[in-house]
Amino acid sequence: MFVVVGVSGGVAAYKSVHLVRLLILAGHEVHVIPTQDALRFVGLSTWESISRNPVTTSVHDDVAQVRHVALGRAADLVIVAPATANTLARMAAGLADNLLGTTLLATSAPVVVAPAMHTEMWLHPATQHNMATLRGRGVHVVGPGDGPLTGGDSGPGRMSEPEEILEAALAAVPGDADLAGLQVVVSAGGTREPIDPVRFLGNRSSGRQGVEVALAAARRGARVSLVAAHVDAQVLAEASRHPRVQITHAGTAMELRDAVVAAAVDADVIVMVAAVADYRVLKIADDKMSKQGQEGLTLDLIQNPDILAALVRERRPGRTIVGFAAESATGDELIEKGRAKRRRKGVDLLAVNEIGWDKGFETPDNELLILNASDDVVARVQGSKRDVANALWDAVVAVRDHTHPEKHSL
Ligand code: C5P
Repeated sequence: MFVVVGVSGGVAAYKSVHLVRLLILAGHEVHVIPTQDALRFVGLSTWESISRNPVTTSVHDDVAQVRHVALGRAADLVIVAPATANTLARMAAGLADNLLGTTLLATSAPVVVAPAMHTEMWLHPATQHNMATLRGRGVHVVGPGDGPLTGGDSGPGRMSEPEEILEAALAAVPGDADLAGLQVVVSAGGTREPIDPVRFLGNRSSGRQGVEVALAAARRGARVSLVAAHVDAQVLAEASRHPRVQITHAGTAMELRDAVVAAAVDADVIVMVAAVADYRVLKIADDKMSKQGQEGLTLDLIQNPDILAALVRERRPGRTIVGFAAESATGDELIEKGRAKRRRKGVDLLAVNEIGWDKGFETPDNELLILNASDDVVARVQGSKRDVANALWDAVVAVRDHTHPEKHSL
């Protein structure tokens, strides 16, 4: 999961260092947003080193990346710990003059606060009123506990322990981040094989399905390496903003192979959605070819390596490999063609697509069936490419649970 930890200025900030550590150990991506005051208690370098991510307090840093809203949008969960009386009041009022404030307004993720303050401040009607407002908006509250406070006094106001905050925070997240901790590689789009400086052999793949597969994995908690072959910037837009998606561009089949192989080094799952050219031109002309008389033109082609089959041959234990097959067939013939291809490639799952002039490519919707390693049809899916992507990940999770449950980290 992508977790934002807001830290406001209370001495309990030191306990949040441990909270961040627990989140990291559980495989989450953590971004800490301290307030200026919080940095008086625990410094920036501590947060950066413990969260393994850059930390800033200002809405004016990283403006081009729209950081003031980007973290909030990307978050699956926001925790504010410690939440001081001041920060809780600011949240209740919707103030947004620091990065934590803008992030809290920009997020639609569950928000969990762990209040920490002296008993009088906690019990003050203003604070209690703010808490009622926040609860009314669906903010989850953990603690405060009753116990010794900084000044030697004792009473309600003590921030809950990091383990308790973590448990409450994870319980607040709807659904499950069932791919958290997994490293995933997805290829998308279609390769282009040059003929001369201006012409190429290509295909109609828009890359939409591959991008949806990548995004669905990222939303479900995976870290995704997306290798994109000629995918429009518009189709890539959301993926390029997602902090857990890293995009590499590839033009030809050979470039795609190199990019996928490099990204695959520590991959738990590889999904080859890209339409890879089976052939490339043997001799690419240095100059633009011109028409020669009335004769036809013959191009000599050579076969490209089958990237998917090679990935299967060289796979390490625990890795799940998924292929896509676009076939001009229907019904039983489609299933049989799919089964033959699955066996040829040796993949764990094969998504089989019926394609035609107006089916499969360049469309917002898709329809496919998924074959497993026993050649059973484990799913038939029809719907938006996003729905199809999620159904595919459901099938991946089922395969991993079945074959190597210990690899399926949560
Ligand atoms: O054999 P076919 O091209 O139908 O196989 C499709 C599947 O194989 C897709 O997952 C595609 O990404 C992959 N592929 C590949 N290398 C190739 C051709 C296809 O990895 N040269």
